[in-house]
Amino acid sequence: MRNLKRNLLAIGTVTVLASAISGCFLDQKTGDDYYRKLAQKMVKKMSDAEMLNMVVGTGYETKAVNLSDDVSGVAGYIDGVSSDLLDIPATKLADGPAGVRIAPTREGDSATYYATAWPVGTLLASSWDIALVKAVGEAYGNEAKEYGVDFALAPGMNIQRNPLGGRNFEYYSEDPLLSGKIGAAMVEGIQKEGVGATIKHFVANNQETERMKSNNVVTPRALREIYLRSFQIAVEEAQPWALMTSYNLINGIYSNERYDGMTSVLRGEWGFKGLVMSDWFAGNVSTTPYKQLLGGQDLIEPGGSSVLQSLQDSIDHGDLSMDTVKEHAVNILTQVLKTPSYQRYAYASHPDLNAHAKLSRRAATESMVLLKNDATHTNGTPLPISQHAKVAVFGVNQINTYKGGTGSGDVNASHIVTIEQGLANRFNTDTAISDFYDTYFDENKVSTPGLFGGADVVSCDEAPLDASVSSGSDTLTDLIADAAQNDDVAVVTIGRLAGEGADRSQDADYYFTDAEIQLIQTVKAHFGTKPVVVVLNVTGTVDTEQWKDSADGILLAYLGGQEVGDAVADVLSGDVNPSGKLAQSFPVSYDVIPSAESEVTFPGTDDDGDGVYTVNYNDGIYVGYRYFNSDDDYSDVSYPFGYGLSYTSFHYSDVKMIENTYNQKGRIGQLRLQANITNTGPVAGKEVVEVYVHAPEVKLDKPTYELKAFAKTDILAPGKTQTLSFTIPANLLASFDQADNEWIIEPGNYTVYVSPSSDVTAANQVHFRINQEIVVSHTTPEAYALERGVASPETIHLP
Ligand code: BGC
Repeated sequence: MRNLKRNLLAIGTVTVLASAISGCFLDQKTGDDYYRKLAQKMVKKMSDAEMLNMVVGTGYETKAVNLSDDVSGVAGYIDGVSSDLLDIPATKLADGPAGVRIAPTREGDSATYYATAWPVGTLLASSWDIALVKAVGEAYGNEAKEYGVDFALAPGMNIQRNPLGGRNFEYYSEDPLLSGKIGAAMVEGIQKEGVGATIKHFVANNQETERMKSNNVVTPRALREIYLRSFQIAVEEAQPWALMTSYNLINGIYSNERYDGMTSVLRGEWGFKGLVMSDWFAGNVSTTPYKQLLGGQDLIEPGGSSVLQSLQDSIDHGDLSMDTVKEHAVNILTQVLKTPSYQRYAYASHPDLNAHAKLSRRAATESMVLLKNDATHTNGTPLPISQHAKVAVFGVNQINTYKGGTGSGDVNASHIVTIEQGLANRFNTDTAISDFYDTYFDENKVSTPGLFGGADVVSCDEAPLDASVSSGSDTLTDLIADAAQNDDVAVVTIGRLAGEGADRSQDADYYFTDAEIQLIQTVKAHFGTKPVVVVLNVTGTVDTEQWKDSADGILLAYLGGQEVGDAVADVLSGDVNPSGKLAQSFPVSYDVIPSAESEVTFPGTDDDGDGVYTVNYNDGIYVGYRYFNSDDDYSDVSYPFGYGLSYTSFHYSDVKMIENTYNQKGRIGQLRLQANITNTGPVAGKEVVEVYVHAPEVKLDKPTYELKAFAKTDILAPGKTQTLSFTIPANLLASFDQADNEWIIEPGNYTVYVSPSSDVTAANQVHFRINQEIVVSHTTPEAYALERGVASPETIHLP
């Protein structure tokens, strides 16, 4: 059917009306209203078949309509139009959150098309640095544009509900404010280059187990305050060109069929002007794809002829009208008109990969989190490592270093600097130890095919203490003993990989294996007062409780992108003073996490055998630190959300409120604060400053306090002070009253903490009072309501 249509379209002379129009608006910065009007005019010139083609992706069996320049390895297309009235080129959509995911080589072409692998989302968010993330976004957008890509299928903005979530690394944080602000910065950066960003996966896509069939039972309040809020911030602050819906159902209905979500909330309440696309093959696409369009989704990806046929049938049966299809075509075309392809941008496939590699390295170094740097068992502070030190590097992960996760979040980069290479580039490393690991890795690695068309995944279990390699008779224990004599510092690297399609497990993933724990403990036992530093090249939260006492220093490097090894060396050497802080809590054990309560709370069960897996969001709004901080002694966390060390120290002073207009009648007010941050230590450094607010509980229960603002200083020389200011607009202070469908600020006494982490025990405080309840905004009644007869899933017991 699609081919037939294409032939018909090809008949006749092509009047390049569209490009003539494009010539006159290239310079205009008139925004979406301008493009929408233009799209409306152009859609009038489209046949029904052309409109239908536009709302259904091309699929994999045919070439996209009016695709002049294909880019191998993109994830999908939006069909163009080629008629005697219109010449709209097909547009190209490429993954993903850690960089432009295209094929690095092409048949019959000797050129290469490698892309920069950026630090993964969680690491970038740990920078808490809006300007840095924007810069990464710009470079990303530039690379996409230079490779002929129109829409980036990024950033991922779901909330990290449970540490085992397989795609958490693609996402930013357990906190919606941090996630929303970092996401908005990424969107702004990408779109500054004239490429569309696609925030995903809307919404509550918090696990991979049975991801296409999981029904998340979650209260509207938890959705509003936690899961929707990061998307809301990015939409309101950065107007992404596109949004991708999620695979899961929410309260019984696929998220990509929810009119209340995509139309009432997203477009109606938040003013989203972009295009809404499905996730790939999501929902009831093989049976009733028209319901996705009725709900407000514009584009079905990857689409194909069967979806097209099904929509045509729905039109014939009166289930779907051409008016609806037309509306979606307008939404899509409004965005397509802004793309490099439509603007006939002459890309050359030569982005400045060297400059981007440097930025990738900087982004990684500015984001890594120093968890521990403790001189209790060493002569002097373990980190930074002196440039004269002889360093023994342990662990197979120094060779099998991970730059990012697997699946659509992967990137085909030209290289990866391993931790072994990075440390050898910077320090005098013990070659006897690296030789052992090189050989051990070669002799023990296992390769498995990558999921979702990804590269093969190479894994290698950690070498046990009695391991030896074919080229030598020494066991690892012997080598550790020798190194403790010869070397000054030990670095132990531990790696964890995750990716799309599977959640993580507790055993040998969240928790360390015996071999890993014994390695750390044995190295420490031999090294005595010489420092032992553990580098975590991990996908997300891991247990630290079982081994952290044996480590003098711990650097959380996460998945640091293609330059990870050099970035680790930059931080360990002190060339870069670490300034990242945790975007996720590190609990004392998996069991203390509320969603770990039972299988039905994560990752779900199918008790009635109907193929749909129920996941009860028992934790409600108490996700991450919102749960852990109800316990004043922080006994449930090893390292709290927002925590991170520096090689210098900072003093906070003159914390004061400079504006408070919440109580003023007739306006939606805001609070402004400022604080002086002084570098009181020996070296230059940057400090992330976090603002938490404790609100009174009148009608609504609340976390003890929540993050409401944050900022990062510039690099401050020793002795220097910077004044930071923070704004908390009323909408960000408000809580969601689901009984009355409104965002409210409750009356009473509020405490503001200006703090270096979510442990606010020693933080500076500011107080204010709200005289009477403030209704900040009204929302769509019954949006995302629990199904009739389904009890609230919340069974949370605060510690
Ligand atoms: C993923 C999306 C991705 C899409 C296209 C899906 O499997 O969930 O995040 O953008 O594939 O590759």
